[in-house]
Amino acid sequence: MSEPKKLFIKTYGCQMNVYDSERMAEAMGGSGYVETDSADDADMILLNTCHIREKAAEKVYSELGRFRALKDEKPDLKIGVAGCVAQAEGEEIMRRQPLVDLVVGPQSYHRLPEMEAKARQGEKALDIDFPEEDKFEKLKNRPKARRAPAAFLTVQEGCDKFCAFCVVPYTRGAEVSRPVERVLGEARDLVERGVREITLLGQNVNAYHGHGPDGAWSLARLIWALNDIDGLERIRFTTSHPNDMDDDLIAAHGECKKLMPYLHLPVQSGSDRILKRMNRSHTAESYLKLIERIRAARPDILISGDFIVGFPEETEEDFQATMDLIRAVEYGQAFSFKYSTRPGTPAAERAQVDDAEASDRLQRLQALITEQQRAVQDSMVGREVSVLFEKPGRLPGQMVGKSDYLHAVHVAGAAEAGVKVGDIARVRIVESGANSLAGTLV
Ligand code: SAH
Ligand code: SF4
Ligand code: F3S
Repeated sequence: MSEPKKLFIKTYGCQMNVYDSERMAEAMGGSGYVETDSADDADMILLNTCHIREKAAEKVYSELGRFRALKDEKPDLKIGVAGCVAQAEGEEIMRRQPLVDLVVGPQSYHRLPEMEAKARQGEKALDIDFPEEDKFEKLKNRPKARRAPAAFLTVQEGCDKFCAFCVVPYTRGAEVSRPVERVLGEARDLVERGVREITLLGQNVNAYHGHGPDGAWSLARLIWALNDIDGLERIRFTTSHPNDMDDDLIAAHGECKKLMPYLHLPVQSGSDRILKRMNRSHTAESYLKLIERIRAARPDILISGDFIVGFPEETEEDFQATMDLIRAVEYGQAFSFKYSTRPGTPAAERAQVDDAEASDRLQRLQALITEQQRAVQDSMVGREVSVLFEKPGRLPGQMVGKSDYLHAVHVAGAAEAGVKVGDIARVRIVESGANSLAGTLV
């Protein structure tokens, strides 16, 4: 038998890209490829790109330029661009960078094997359509390999919300939910392969309304059905939109045992004026009320968020409203960004905030968030949590896993005590470090 060909995938951006990269690797497995973690010995290189940050496309071009020497050495090497930059600038990439053999948008990954075959014939292959069929269904025939204990499962893609700053509705297209049976089938398959925790993914995952046996199912209903799968122990979902947190989903946080006490609920700003200009359709007050209801259902839930500072026309007063909101919520985790213009989005045309001012606000906001994050993490000391062990630690006998609240937890001597990857154990937290907790088995 001939040597398998090697595929190197570099993944940028959100968890959805991580999930897509796994699916692409599995699809290419059918064409005789195995994954490698080095570009140097690859027969095919795929960049799975993200378009959310400033100069995203420029970074892709400079990354591609670095493969020139490799391709000179190995003319058979195929280079592909996937993901959201591919979707946004596919034709331009083909024109500008002759090293690229194929460009595939996020909705066309099931066509990757035929595109690779075409590229092997020396032709260029471009596919950035939004086809009707379920790309994941087409990618299904994958090897039944063991999987890491925590996995992502995409249930919903795309977005109809059109926040004024965001490219996702343009790169991922309109909101689409995968049918219930497909999601449950994939979840059962993951569990058979050793998965114990599933994170449901979607750009607006709580807008899920997949087709079920008796009409459209909400995310809460889907979670309850997953809750019945034996062997699946933990359920998470991300990313949610405040407007799509319905009563059933809030209740599930209090009642569904397998649903973890962690919720990523981006607010972006605490100023109603800015929220309106962002086209967010919630207010600071409605967000705070929502958090209150969620905490009433599940008092220990860890809240995480996303923030944008320096959105066009944001004043110091607007920024202070965001700081007030953060103080009111007390976040356990947050991602914050300086606004950057995305061409083609409405906000790109508006008066921009002075860059130095925006950087200063970002620094102040991040200092506050760090303080809160730290306080929440420190409050875990002395408590008992459950940990899903994901890998051995750096020290002998040590194992590392994630708590219910998604904190990384190091446990010394766990391996000696018989703990294996994939086990869930009760752990008492004894110390709060820079980015993780330390605990001992109970
Ligand atoms: N669908 C999710 C996340 C989308 S992108 C949601 O609605 O929350 C992830 C985060 O990137 C966003 O929450 C936002 O905080 C940030 N982001 C998106 N576009 C941006 C831009 N143009 N400038 C700065 N941050 C941006
Ligand atoms: Fe982007 Fe807004 Fe949609 Fe989130 S809800 S993906 S920020 S447009
Ligand atoms: Fe980036 Fe596309 Fe995800 S733009 S954040 S990779 S949806």
